[in-house]
Amino acid sequence: MKILVTGGAGFIGANFVYFQLQNHPEDQIVCVDALTYAGNLETLAEAMKNPQFKFVKADIADRAAMDELFAAETFDVVVNFAAESHVDRSIENPEIFLKTNIMGTQVLMDCSRKYQVSRYHQVSTDEVYGDLPLDRPDLFFTEETPIHTSSPYSASKASADLLVQAYHRTFKLPVTISRCSNNYGPYHFPEKLIPLMIARALADQSLPVYGKGENVRDWLYVEDHCSAIDLIIRKGRVGEVYNIGGHNERTNLEVVQTILRELGKPESLINYVTDRPGHDQRYAIDPAKISSELGWTPATKFDDGIKKTIQWYLDNRSWWEHILSGDYQNYYAQMYANR
Ligand code: NAD
Ligand code: DAU
Repeated sequence: MKILVTGGAGFIGANFVYFQLQNHPEDQIVCVDALTYAGNLETLAEAMKNPQFKFVKADIADRAAMDELFAAETFDVVVNFAAESHVDRSIENPEIFLKTNIMGTQVLMDCSRKYQVSRYHQVSTDEVYGDLPLDRPDLFFTEETPIHTSSPYSASKASADLLVQAYHRTFKLPVTISRCSNNYGPYHFPEKLIPLMIARALADQSLPVYGKGENVRDWLYVEDHCSAIDLIIRKGRVGEVYNIGGHNERTNLEVVQTILRELGKPESLINYVTDRPGHDQRYAIDPAKISSELGWTPATKFDDGIKKTIQWYLDNRSWWEHILSGDYQNYYAQMYANR
């Protein structure tokens, strides 16, 4: 099988590339990534040594480039991770979110139709369901929960989901959609809560907690997200949406306190700052459908996953220090200078 992984130089896409190379060594992986600020080719350095892996630098919204790529390779499956993914950036400047997340999805689906891929998988998010109130711990997002978005990011992801469903109904494109909760683990870009707090705590810098730190996220170790997508593209039913998450809810304050405790740093580093506009209160996934249909369950509990993640950031300081210094953006030029 030949799989196109878009956005594979980012956090989850890269973890998915490694998951596939390890668990399905017979499959070929082509990664296309525009290498935006969030794309880091250093992350794929090990994959580059594998003859089953190939990297192509291109923008998913570039129709000519995508058509050329699909014509040159015969993809069986397309897994679309490529996106602008940071809510705070979408509040600062929504435009690129619409271009990449919506128009990019459309271009990929047009190519998937033209070149007759057997599965187009859209990596979506639980944020398309909006949020749940803090005082109703009995409520969870199911696949039937209405779409109800809060930020330009979540609106762009929801728009893409609607287009994916339209392409299935109208053009019979064989699609699946997954909607996952917050991921954490290796290669997480240090603008997101967990890696940002680890990096800042290690430098004894203040930790900016939005509002009172009461908002709740349902944390999933990234490898569990990869195993769920792997099951969906191989055994999931065409046209279906699958929620992915694992009942690992924590308030942001609990997450930050855990990181400080694990690193032996004082809570006086916590700095409560102005809240994110439109800040979603609580996300919580009901994973009953993927569990019962595909037998998926998350392997890693938050208390273990956060320890593993902190250890990874301690063991791989150069990876995130290159990001903080900007050095990672020179890597493409170095790697491809003579190619
Ligand atoms: P990320 O920001 O770490 O990585 C995104 C990658 O996409 C980067 O490598 C970037 O260079 C690439 N990219 C951006 N625009 C592109 C374009 N126009 N063409 C080609 N490549 C482009 O994101 P992530 O956290 O790894 O998220 C991956 C996907 O999973 C996204 O679709 C996101 O919406 C979804 N998701 C993320 C989470 C999470 O907790 N991080 C949870 C659920 C769903
Ligand atoms: O739920 C899935 C989503 O999870 C994905 O679709 C997004 O791509 C991903 O970025 C993530 O969105 P969040 O907004 O939940 O993640 P973020 O790490 O930005 O923030 C997590 C929580 O921490 C959120 O309630 C805001 C808060 N926060 C975040 C930052 C960066 C802070 O309190 N301080 C911070 O500095």
